[in-house]
Amino acid sequence: MSAEVTVRFTVNGRERSVQTDPDRPLLDVLREDLELRGTKYGCGEGLCGACSVLVDGRRMNACRTAVAKVEGRAVVTVEGLADGDELHPVQRAFLEEGAFQCGFCASGMIVAAAALLDFNPAPSDEEVVAGMDHNICRCCSHPAIVKAVRRAVELSKGGAR
Ligand code: FES
Repeated sequence: MSAEVTVRFTVNGRERSVQTDPDRPLLDVLREDLELRGTKYGCGEGLCGACSVLVDGRRMNACRTAVAKVEGRAVVTVEGLADGDELHPVQRAFLEEGAFQCGFCASGMIVAAAALLDFNPAPSDEEVVAGMDHNICRCCSHPAIVKAVRRAVELSKGGAR
């Protein structure tokens, strides 16, 4: 454990400042200090993607990211994808396609899909599978998830953000 430091960064567009051990996982800070519990703890080892967040637009595993690494950077969690009451197209698509069973992986999947579509707005199915490769669904909903990402592409084309 290191001496506490102040780490400043933005979360979902809001400036935040936390006094903490710099080596603490970003996931713990989000869930425990900032009460953003949409981001889930799955494996804690960087293997399942349940803890996916965006850091400067790139998907990262918050369980394996020391909070000091996000100093001055922009973090977006699943709570930050919606625009007020308007869901992100990926969120809408996951609901419309029922792309979950237990739902534990869903926030990480949604964040990963949003990152994928930001990078590649019209991916092929193969590119969706490859792009979501860091995220695991223990209920085996992967086919529905791929369908939901395809649906999100359609919703995005239709003018949804
Ligand atoms: Fe972070 Fe599994 S909880 S990758």
